[in-house]
Amino acid sequence: MSRTTTEHPGAVTVIGLGPMGRAMVGALLDRGYGVTMWNRTASRADDLVARGAVLAPSPADAVAANEVVVLSLTDYAAVHAVLEPAAPTLNGRVLLNLTSGTPEEARAGARWAAEHGAVQLTGGVNSSPTGIGQPDSATLYSGPREAFDRHRPVLEALTGRVDHQGEDPGLAALSYQLGMVMFWTSMLSFWQAIVLARANGLTAADILPSAVETATSLPETFAFYAERIDAGVHDGDVDRLAMGLASTEHVLHTNAEAGVDTTLPAAVVDLFRRGVEAGHAEDSFSALVELLAKPGPPTDPGTDGRVREDGPSLR
Ligand SMILES: NC(=O)c1ccc[n+]([C@@H]2O[C@H](COP(=O)([O-])OP(=O)(O)OC[C@H]3O[C@@H](n4cnc5c(N)ncnc54)[C@H](OP(=O)(O)O)[C@@H]3O)[C@@H](O)[C@H]2O)c1
Repeated sequence: MSRTTTEHPGAVTVIGLGPMGRAMVGALLDRGYGVTMWNRTASRADDLVARGAVLAPSPADAVAANEVVVLSLTDYAAVHAVLEPAAPTLNGRVLLNLTSGTPEEARAGARWAAEHGAVQLTGGVNSSPTGIGQPDSATLYSGPREAFDRHRPVLEALTGRVDHQGEDPGLAALSYQLGMVMFWTSMLSFWQAIVLARANGLTAADILPSAVETATSLPETFAFYAERIDAGVHDGDVDRLAMGLASTEHVLHTNAEAGVDTTLPAAVVDLFRRGVEAGHAEDSFSALVELLAKPGPPTDPGTDGRVREDGPSLR
């Protein structure tokens, strides 16, 4: 039987039962924790109730049940939608907020929690749901060190490796987004290679060895360019941006010839072309970091269609 009161030191609340939250409840149950949980769609809790977790009737009841409250929601809008009605129950709670968001959202969430007498430990989980509860999975945390130390056993039940990055609640969100900016674009590049392969009669399995070889070459390339970028060196002694533009155009045209979606390769060509137009043709393609450091043109979706007066005019 699970126990769900603060008298039991090994009891935890989990709010949000998507793939992540469900895996976390499972990992906590496996380690003997009592778990109280809440989810907007109650039916997602059925099998976990069968395993001994308790489904609370409301977020407020779930928060009231335990000092440690894990938040595993889609985004910070969901966090506020769920927690605002439960605000009177937050006093004294430690919110392990494992919800993805921006560093500023994490800081605002921590301030809001503090206004209601709670503390927030922000966490960025570097694992898929299958890694939850495993010794080699990892989460980066930031926020009050005291809360991190005091609740370390719970954190280690969720992912075997935990690291405290600092007191700033935005740090863990930043670290997470640094990983995600590479993960999503890398995986999209793999999907693009797969559709190009399939359009040419090959399967994903056929191209897997060469895809792995390409990925395996990247750490050395990262290290080479990281040192030069930190030193402000973009010499075109190894590669030239003009060559890169020609190469990315070959990629674009190969995809166009195959009749597949060219959004991604066209975006890459666009960035290389803007770099050449900005005068970097003879520099290394690492000079693109200077371009990317500023907002893009008004058509940059990140500007939400607003014209950025501080943005470069490179077209
Ligand atoms: N899945 C992964 O591989 C992975 C890996 C690392 C980090 N993460 C992060 O971990 C978090 C959880 O991941 P997940 O895959 O479990 O996410 P998810 O599939 O988006 O589900 C999260 C939960 O959010 C709830 N929710 C969304 N909007 C809501 C609202 N307005 N009001 C109330 N509840 C709401 C959903 O409730 P319903 O069940 O009612 O829809 C669900 O329980 C996300 O921030 C994600 O970015 C995920």
